[in-house]
Amino acid sequence: MPANIVIGTQWGDEGKGKVIDILASRAQVVVRSQGGNNAGHTVVSGGQTYKLHLVPSGILYPETMCLIGAGVVLDPKDFISELDEMERRGVSTANLKIDPRAHIVMPWHVRLDGLSEKFRGGNDIGTTGRGIGPTYMDKYERCGIRMCDLVDPAVLAEKARATGRLKNKIITAVYEGEAVDIEAVIKEYNAYGERLKPYMADVSVLTYEAAKAGKTILFEGAQATLLDIDFGTYPFVTSSHPLSGGVTIGTGIGPKMIDNIIGVAKAYTTRVGKGPFPTELNDATGETIRNKGGEFGTTTGRPRRTGWFDAVIVRHSVRVNGLDGLAINKLDTLAGIGDLKICVGYVKPDGTQLRDFPASLEELADCAPVYEDFPGFDDDITACRRFSDLPETCQRYIERLEELCECKVCMVGVGPDRDQMIER
Ligand code: GDP
Ligand code: IMO
Ligand code: MG
Repeated sequence: MPANIVIGTQWGDEGKGKVIDILASRAQVVVRSQGGNNAGHTVVSGGQTYKLHLVPSGILYPETMCLIGAGVVLDPKDFISELDEMERRGVSTANLKIDPRAHIVMPWHVRLDGLSEKFRGGNDIGTTGRGIGPTYMDKYERCGIRMCDLVDPAVLAEKARATGRLKNKIITAVYEGEAVDIEAVIKEYNAYGERLKPYMADVSVLTYEAAKAGKTILFEGAQATLLDIDFGTYPFVTSSHPLSGGVTIGTGIGPKMIDNIIGVAKAYTTRVGKGPFPTELNDATGETIRNKGGEFGTTTGRPRRTGWFDAVIVRHSVRVNGLDGLAINKLDTLAGIGDLKICVGYVKPDGTQLRDFPASLEELADCAPVYEDFPGFDDDITACRRFSDLPETCQRYIERLEELCECKVCMVGVGPDRDQMIER
């Protein structure tokens, strides 16, 4: 498995961190290429739980190189807290590198995230409030501050004064918010730059050299396909490209380097934040799945919305990402909840069926999900380690997902621990 991508196929939190941690035992390099600390990736090992936001999920292996690519937006304050927490728990961060081109989340980005959400009123996106959208806006506006600027006090001061002045105008005049103290920010961020300077290295070059040396590389997706700025449920999306295509741009490598693309899904669906969710369960079953599955945001602690597995969505992900295989997590959560349903298509009010996920949210809102019923199971499957150990109904459920999503299932998660995975 020389170069593998692992990405989310639904609305995030599919258990990408767990899959990366498992595969990282056979890799030498793990790379993040987009998103920021809006991500929350959980790794459970030996009874210890690690919640990672910017640090790649390969960090528990001391020899593994962990890289943060140019396409990531980095909040230095949160990142340093994460580094300190890792070191406190005895996890070395010596093999971590950040690309000089990665954009920096500044205090005005966080403030603008909150203000613009408030301004939207009831039509807010339900962002994580981490300043992700405003940081990517500045990147494309070409007024962003990058990692290479952060570590250079003169450049940082010049760019922060120029951009900060404009941002303060927007904060105060447009949103009637409180201005940011730019000189205090420069001082604070100088200290972050000093601290992070040793971590800066060209991730494109490091990844390329690793590939040339025959090392195994894992690309860790954050967010997920339905949160993609183009192929997700726009505007209820994040501001980056969590798709497999985003990996090459966000790292600075060619698409021909990639050998294998794995999509991660849950055996049901969840979503945190606002936006459409055709198979959402606003009933006791939804509540049971939320409580059994511990469906509360890793980053914000918000309750996740829950619903049945939607094969239209995952098939969309199989296509737009070119998936080679699926990892289906949290099958164990479905035990004992009664009979199951899988969404196999959408039907419009005039009776016509929709096979592919629509672009228009108005069209989507008019659709109703078409379900296939499936017998439930009560068995505790958390100790199963081979596919054949699973009850017959579980095997049939997974095989049906494979057929509907048109992609083979290569891993089945039966618990949060790195050991609780069936590989096929
Ligand atoms: P990510 O953002 O895709 O990395 O996923 P999160 O870490 O935000 O959320 C996934 C949650 O499900 C975490 O609490 C994981 O520990 C947990 N998890 C992952 N796989 C399984 C599984 O197969 N079974 C159970 N019960 N929990 C799982
Ligand atoms: P991981 O990597 C789930 C959602 C937010 C919101 C929308 C936009 O853990 O799967 P943003 O702060 O990015 O501008 O918010 O995207 N969102 C996630 N939902 N998992 C994530 O990451 C998410 N990252 C962003 O809830 O709906
Ligand atoms: Mg998460």
